[in-house]
Amino acid sequence: MSGLNNQVLEDGILGYSTNDDCSVFTIDEKHKIIQSVDFFTPIVDDPFEFGRIAAANSLSDIYAMGGKPLFALNIACFPSNELPLDILTKILNGGISIAKKAGIPILGGHTVRDSEPKYGLVVTGIVEAGNELRNSQAKAGDVLILTKPIGSGIISTAIKQGKATKEMINDVIKKMTTLNLDAAESMKDLPISACTDISGFGLLGHLNEMCQSSKVSAVLNFNKVPFMEGVYELAQNGIIPGGTIKNLKYIEDQIDFSDIFADYQKLMLSDAQTSGGLLISIPKKYSEKLIERLKSNNSICYKIIGQLYKKAEKSIYVQ
Ligand code: CO
Repeated sequence: MSGLNNQVLEDGILGYSTNDDCSVFTIDEKHKIIQSVDFFTPIVDDPFEFGRIAAANSLSDIYAMGGKPLFALNIACFPSNELPLDILTKILNGGISIAKKAGIPILGGHTVRDSEPKYGLVVTGIVEAGNELRNSQAKAGDVLILTKPIGSGIISTAIKQGKATKEMINDVIKKMTTLNLDAAESMKDLPISACTDISGFGLLGHLNEMCQSSKVSAVLNFNKVPFMEGVYELAQNGIIPGGTIKNLKYIEDQIDFSDIFADYQKLMLSDAQTSGGLLISIPKKYSEKLIERLKSNNSICYKIIGQLYKKAEKSIYVQ
């Protein structure tokens, strides 16, 4: 976005210039409006499930920012000349079912005719001033906790190539439609240093953004990183999305991989996620409390996957 002739913003307003999950707009001393938009083409065949995934994905940035969603608008593209409108209804109903889970209404939206279906939400939320979670405040001594396993990009590619089993498909849908709401609730009143959600840039990409903007370095333990069922084997067999390969290329020179890792393992850590989990950076002494809460809130994952240190030559050291 470096080519944009954007305005210089006042204090308390965050736009393109930072790598945060939402734009932030201060409305008064106590409250900030946060907003995020995302939409994409179907990654599963079932239109209702696609709607659920897209909605959960769009809501995720609000939770990653420590905020509470208020309402959403639909944004959709649909080839109404070629596909029955009933499919669009199913997609939108999927979105509504997830919005209900999040406790918010969908108040309107806009659909345009397009050759390929696309769907997502514009989500508006609110956060109390001082409670917003940035990704630039992570500190040396923090530990890193990830709340969903990695691999939705690799599994989605396997689905497209007809190489995913029924179990894999059901499992990835379950994970992508799980809201980050409970994980976000678990962070309440704990001294969280930084938080972001894992999406298109993959675990390494989003961790790299957090490290660079916080001026720290991370040690990531490959064996502690949770992966979805089947991801290891699929990656080993070269079933990797193009976006994941680009992700790794883009950040490779800022990462030091221990010699034991093969290329497919590096790609697993770079896998572009849809509706991924939260990556939370918290001082070590508070991590047990957070893990306890994640566990009691039935979080899918709650293990420590790495630790932050003073800024070193590389941004991330993978061991
Ligand atoms: Co995000």
